[in-house]
Amino acid sequence: MKKKIIAQISLFWLIFAFNSMANYSPTNERIVVAGGSLTEIVFALGAGDQVVGVDKTSNYPDTTKQLPQIGYWKLLNVEGILSLSPSLFITLNDVEPENVINQINQAKVDVLTLQRVPGTLDLLYSNIEKISARLNKQAEGKQLISKIQNNLSELQKKILTHPNKAKILFLMSMGGTNSVAGKNTTADALITIAGGENLATHTSYKSYTAESIIAMNPEVIVLNTYSIDQLGGIDKINTIPGITETAAFKNHRIITIDDSYLFGIGPRIDEVANILYQGFYQD
Ligand code: HEM
Repeated sequence: MKKKIIAQISLFWLIFAFNSMANYSPTNERIVVAGGSLTEIVFALGAGDQVVGVDKTSNYPDTTKQLPQIGYWKLLNVEGILSLSPSLFITLNDVEPENVINQINQAKVDVLTLQRVPGTLDLLYSNIEKISARLNKQAEGKQLISKIQNNLSELQKKILTHPNKAKILFLMSMGGTNSVAGKNTTADALITIAGGENLATHTSYKSYTAESIIAMNPEVIVLNTYSIDQLGGIDKINTIPGITETAAFKNHRIITIDDSYLFGIGPRIDEVANILYQGFYQD
């Protein structure tokens, strides 16, 4: 009888221990993130305290600026990442150099790779779900998605009242050259989500001649803050070849948005979509 009781108690503890292991949630990850939108998701889920390193495109929320750097997302440094002893590397799928993800994997670090483009709300929600599942923050993930959906619902109704979409160009100015955002860029995705039409249909970024910009004649031009710095201030916009001949310039319809919105669609999509919508339709 005594033996039977001991056996039953042992079985109970065995089942209890097994269950605990199955429900084990890694709360002490050492996360390194490459991609501003992904960093924002991790912080929005309440896991920011587990982040030990970020890339240069991650500068929101403010605390990310104090974290160790692993380089620009297109110029990542593998040794820099590994020196932070990460247990998990969360990254956009198109980071560079090309084999960086493989190298991190080979170093036995768990890697969660998430898509950046084409940027859609569905992709954002799916990225939130994947990160929250990996961090065992499913409830927070669901809450975050509902919050974004609620915040966007009013805007989406307003967009429907504009069957004729505003004609937009997104320009990036770097080191004296100007590039226009086409398909498969975050800029294009933001224009679409905010209810505008990107006039540029090429893929990625491409330099346009003054004549092409004049011929496209955008109603609104969007620039990022880094481009304004590169130009030497907002009053130097007129140095972009062709811009002064566009309706956007003549009607003072130039919008600038913070760089931090541009590295994948992130959880502040409602914020930037509202800024862009206001600039597109002024209502
Ligand atoms: C040597 C330095 C840099 C390199 C090699 C580089 C490279 C790239 C590449 C390859 C892309 C992707 C273009 C595409 O979607 O096809 C890109 C996008 C971008 N870069 Fe850089 N970049 C550099 C520096 C910077 C700096 C300093 C900024 C300032 C914030 C910046 C801001 C951006 C932005 C806003 C995008 C657009 C993302 C999008 O709309 O999809 N880049 N960069």
